Amino acid sequence: MASINKNYDKLQGAYLFSEIAKHVADFRTKNPTLEIMHLGIGDTTQPLTPTVIKGLSKAVKKLAKAKTYTGYGNAQGDVRLRTALSDFYKKRNVKVGVEEIFISDGAKSDSANIQSIFGLKNVVAVADPVYTVYVDSNVIAGRTGEFKHGGYEGLVYMGCNVKNDFMPSVPDQKTDIIYLCSPNNPTGAVMTKKRLKEFVDYALKNKAVIIFDAAYVEYISDPSLPKSIYEIEGAKKCAIEINSFSKWAGFTGVRLSFAVVPIDLVVEDTQRGKINSLWSRRQSTMFNGASNISQEGALSVLSSAGQKENKKLIAYYMSNAKLIKKNLSALGFQVFGGEHAPYIWLKTPENLSSWEFFHKLLQEAHVVSTPGSGFGKQGEGFVRLSAFGDKKTVQKALRSIKDNLKL
Ligand SMILES: Cc1ncc(COP(=O)(O)O)c(C=O)c1O
Repeated sequence: MASINKNYDKLQGAYLFSEIAKHVADFRTKNPTLEIMHLGIGDTTQPLTPTVIKGLSKAVKKLAKAKTYTGYGNAQGDVRLRTALSDFYKKRNVKVGVEEIFISDGAKSDSANIQSIFGLKNVVAVADPVYTVYVDSNVIAGRTGEFKHGGYEGLVYMGCNVKNDFMPSVPDQKTDIIYLCSPNNPTGAVMTKKRLKEFVDYALKNKAVIIFDAAYVEYISDPSLPKSIYEIEGAKKCAIEINSFSKWAGFTGVRLSFAVVPIDLVVEDTQRGKINSLWSRRQSTMFNGASNISQEGALSVLSSAGQKENKKLIAYYMSNAKLIKKNLSALGFQVFGGEHAPYIWLKTPENLSSWEFFHKLLQEAHVVSTPGSGFGKQGEGFVRLSAFGDKKTVQKALRSIKDNLKL
């Protein structure tokens, strides 16, 4: 008799964004003529740049003729793209070999799937609040107990709050798999080199592995802040880095990402190269390679024209972030993040809960936010605002908050 994976029953509620969408749909039904401004979900809104469009079109045209048509490609990714990424890292003084790079269809899939190459007994540490994919994928795999008192049994939570500038500290117990995300979704905080070094040292000492989600590093403008965990000495021995073209170049719909699994990375009872070959095996068994069209687009992102254009795209979103931060601070809100990340982490006024303030913003100002409590216990009392909107929408939302929100 077939049975289900009961770990799914441990998962909490609906996916956060489905729940938000339901509330927004209810509000729209009751108020069909009102304009709703979305500062909620972290999806990009601006068009792809001309160079990227050219690259994608070139790939489509190649598929139109038998002579240039290609089907399945290299499961690890087009070697031209992996070489371009290796060169991209080199320019940042980071040495990453072509054989260490794996092209994929999204940082979400990679950050969810990477745990599958590690044993079920590993103790997992995550930040709180957290990009929930790291938690849910480990719950589904069976590395946690039940959800109790705002957290899963067996998971180690690294609290991020006002007191520690929303930067996690190394766990005070032994853990084996540590997820870090910098710049951070949802808090917008960025880890300093010093703090990241503490994690690398901890991982080396405890033979732990760090999964470093770098999906937002292109939003960092301060050169002293790390854009790759491999800027820290020793990180190639203990860290996997995951990155994506989604927020960097507007590929949320195109889909393309990459993971670096260093040859030097070792964990208990493994030789050099073993983790790299396990990920290779996992991907070649369960994934048939990323879209050849998307990969050609990514090559264009990495071209010098593409990089220049995408810097402008990022500057556009960051000017939204600045606007949100400035206007909401002027209204007396406590706002965090938004300097090296497209997210603003806003403390709710009057000790309102995240969901109470979400509803207040929606009802009074018609602005959609994301309740911080959906990202973890320590996200309670915060909402996340995204700077990925169209500038006009952001401006309208800010005006509406100023004019309509009853504070
Ligand atoms: C921290 C983080 N990692 C990964 C992703 C997903 O990226 P992708 O579109 O490449 O799947 C997101 C998307 O919001 C994210 O915030």
